[in-house]
Amino acid sequence: MTIRDNLYFSQLPFDAPYSAHKILIADDDDHSRSLLEAMLDEDGHEVIAATDGRQIPGLIAEHKPDLVLLDVMMPGETGFAICRALKTDPKLRQIPVILVTGLSNNSDRLLGSEVGADEFLTKPIRRAELMARVRALLRLRDYSKELEEAETVLFTLAKGIEAKDPFTEGHCERMSRYAVMLGQAAGLPEEQLTALRRGGMVHDIGKLAVPEEILLKPGALDDHERRIMMEHPAAGAAICAPMRSFHNVLPIIRHHHERMDGSGYPDGLTGNQIPVTARILAIIDVYDAVTVERPYKAAFTVERAIEILRQDAAKGWWDSGLVEEWAGLILSARLEPRSEMIEAARREVAGA
Ligand SMILES: [Fe+2]
Repeated sequence: MTIRDNLYFSQLPFDAPYSAHKILIADDDDHSRSLLEAMLDEDGHEVIAATDGRQIPGLIAEHKPDLVLLDVMMPGETGFAICRALKTDPKLRQIPVILVTGLSNNSDRLLGSEVGADEFLTKPIRRAELMARVRALLRLRDYSKELEEAETVLFTLAKGIEAKDPFTEGHCERMSRYAVMLGQAAGLPEEQLTALRRGGMVHDIGKLAVPEEILLKPGALDDHERRIMMEHPAAGAAICAPMRSFHNVLPIIRHHHERMDGSGYPDGLTGNQIPVTARILAIIDVYDAVTVERPYKAAFTVERAIEILRQDAAKGWWDSGLVEEWAGLILSARLEPRSEMIEAARREVAGA
């Protein structure tokens, strides 16, 4: 029996045309726009057409297209300006953009690359070339959409754990923001900052495996309960392990309770054996825990929190270089407006 004889697989549309997507075409030339529309329509896509660059933001907000095809020369806004606006907007930059340029116009291509275009097509457009580019970009778009959805599920689960304890409200978002701030200050590359943003949100997701009576116990935990609680980093890493895009996040989840002197868990790593991203999250976790109010204690001031972090770093728990980096960010005039996040965190810390 082949796979296609199998009842389940036989119901899948193996021979169906490539699945439909929404494609926005922006071209003021009626002839070339209709030609593009016809080609994409024939491939089963839903086409939205614009004739003026100024219509595009509204059409994108209304239709949420999966791909945008822009002629570089249009009334209102040029294709370059629209592409730049799309690629600098964190909510829209995932939408692939194809720029349609004049034949062999190298300066257009150069500028197009600078504004972040994903692909180029030259006029006159040939059907085979258009379809090949469109299909390749839509496949990537589908893949990144799936990842976004999976990430949303994980973030929702993590926030569900946070919601069980009203005193930890906003902890995940703060962790995410502060960890990225410290990562930036430490000069980490973009992929590690992304890992910190995600890790800040999901680092405690393994608490899903911890019974509520332990998770929410008001008093101190006994040895048995503490042992169960200490399983949450490994459990969290196991939950997120199947997600390939979380590859850099797994070490953060697993090692965010390690200490520089090896007295942490789950693996008792020491010094630089602990990934820098996990060392950052460990510091931020303590900082956030002591600067929020709990039923049994008032919120510590920023100065007191830094003092505690410095004392613990001196004991051999935290990376003292990173603690000083964080102290510098939070306490001193180094809070220059290089990052909006720093300003936002500063306002939040000041209670504004
Ligand atoms: Fe934790």
